[in-house]
Amino acid sequence: MATKVDETKTADEGKRIYVSYNDEWYDITEFDHPGEGIRGTYMSDYNGKKIDEELHTAHSTNDPYEWLEEAKAKGECDGVRFIGELSKAAE
Ligand code: HEM
Repeated sequence: MATKVDETKTADEGKRIYVSYNDEWYDITEFDHPGEGIRGTYMSDYNGKKIDEELHTAHSTNDPYEWLEEAKAKGECDGVRFIGELSKAAE
């Protein structure tokens, strides 16, 4: 069955989307997430959140981890941009 993507969610008023994995931050605004719209999943709902648990439970492949590793190694990978640790002083 085709997945109907809610365009009002994907556009999200041009807001940037930052997520945290393994205590480091990634900008996934430009990432074309293959799971977008599947089972009501929208990356904009995860802005500012830790996604370690969801990465583990939502996916059936290692691709998400490979994407994040490559982004971390190169600075960017297919729209996933590595940011790094946030300053401890800001916590
Ligand atoms: C930067 C972070 C993420 C990356 C790189 C990523 C990457 C991917 C990739 C490669 C797929 C297709 C293959 C697979 O199932 O592994 C996918 C599917 C999916 N993703 Fe993500 N994802 C990310 C974050 C999330 C988050 C936070 C959720 C929250 C629930 C999520 C939910 C899903 C769902 C529901 C699917 C569809 C799985 C299916 O076909 O049943 N993803 N994602």
